[in-house]
Amino acid sequence: MTQVDVLLGLQWGDEGKGKIVDVLSPQYDLIARFQGGPNAGHTLEFDGKKFVLNTIPSGIFNEKTMNLIGNGVVIDPIILKRELDNLKTAGHDPVAKGKLVIARKAHLILPTHQLLDAANEQKMGKDKIGSTLKGIGPTYMDKTGRNGLRVGDTTLPDFKERYNRLVEKHKEILSHYEFEYDLTEKEAAFFEAIEFIKNIPHVDSEHYVNGFLKEGKTVLAEGAQGTLLDVDFGSYPFVTSSNTTTAGACTGLGIAPNKVGHVYGIFKAYCTRVGGGPFPTELDDEVGETLRKVGHEFGATTGRARRCGWIDLPALKYAIMLNGVTELIMMKADVLDGFDTIYACTHYEHNGETIDYMPYDIITVKPTPVLKEIQGWKTDVTKITKTDEIPAKLAEYIAFLEQELEVPVKYLSVGPDRTQTLILD
Ligand code: GDP
Ligand code: IMO
Ligand code: MG
Repeated sequence: MTQVDVLLGLQWGDEGKGKIVDVLSPQYDLIARFQGGPNAGHTLEFDGKKFVLNTIPSGIFNEKTMNLIGNGVVIDPIILKRELDNLKTAGHDPVAKGKLVIARKAHLILPTHQLLDAANEQKMGKDKIGSTLKGIGPTYMDKTGRNGLRVGDTTLPDFKERYNRLVEKHKEILSHYEFEYDLTEKEAAFFEAIEFIKNIPHVDSEHYVNGFLKEGKTVLAEGAQGTLLDVDFGSYPFVTSSNTTTAGACTGLGIAPNKVGHVYGIFKAYCTRVGGGPFPTELDDEVGETLRKVGHEFGATTGRARRCGWIDLPALKYAIMLNGVTELIMMKADVLDGFDTIYACTHYEHNGETIDYMPYDIITVKPTPVLKEIQGWKTDVTKITKTDEIPAKLAEYIAFLEQELEVPVKYLSVGPDRTQTLILD
């Protein structure tokens, strides 16, 4: 029997998961998204084209690979339909090709979930989470509150009544906010999209994935967001509402922990965060601005400027521990090409102590990063294709990270295109 490999982000999201899942997808029979929803924006580039996927797994461009949206994902039917319409226009129609299935246990994002998200954020003012306003939090609240609607419910004769009952609850909650809204247009689009997604096969993801394993087929679970946005272990409450860690792949697909194989942890050569919350190595200066400009650090989903800073080793060590990472993937090395010196945070100064872990009170007391200076490589690495072309200083940086993190770096990404990826020995 085969096992499920997992690929997930080790920072605050946007590490480059979409690109690498696409690169790895020829090695897999199935790519399965296990959590999150259209708060995700996973970018892929190949043949001069760029695609951003929100709900659809990033294996969709590989002819041989099946793609599953797992039970742990929350689905906005309107966004899913739009994603599929866009793919069809671009000449890729995974529905017609029978390459996409959805878990019938996945929960649905209703238009009123988005309204609740927006009303809540508006009320929080400057303390807001900086949510993507896609209705993620309220949908997971209804899931755990046992109120939610699932994909499988759409085929029940009383789906509309169930929908109305939940929407009444939401309207009651919304009446406590000073928040104006008009549901009419969104509701029409929602029901049109519901009809559309009925054409995508609905499966029990637990049986579906375990069936692949039993047949000796290969499966890659694709994470969304990043470890530091995990609802249990991230910088709570500045997190998303799902488990973004390896454990989330088990509950989000229906696989037992002993079925997990390789765990690929992906990180940028520096660090970014979008939305509110602590970010110890953030650079609120022109260096941060340079990282943002060179790295095109603007949200794939919301277009918001991403906050930028140096790589944070205590945070990465924490993420590696939580996920049981077996191989690392380093992204966006090319963004540092022009720097004379770069820095890595090795420890924090916190409440008068030097620590190498993320403290509980990180929200209220900002840790001061202890930075190690590293010489830059000052070489354009975007065109290198062989490991022996890696500049010595970049190789030293990778060796330093491997020593600190105690996990090998298996892949190195030197540009957004599929081809700009090196396998390290
Ligand atoms: P994801 O959410 O983890 O899939 O990442 P995003 O797609 O939100 O953000 C990653 C961004 O970096 C996208 O715009 C990618 O096209 C781009 N990208 C990925 N890898 C590299 C790389 O090695 N170098 C550069 N310069 N850009 C990259
Ligand atoms: P991918 O998969 C980066 C952030 C939001 C906000 C917090 C909560 O592309 O890496 P939510 O909408 O989930 O309630 O927002 O989480 N966030 C992300 N940041 N990448 C993502 O996804 C994100 N998904 C959510 O900015 O701070
Ligand atoms: Mg993203």
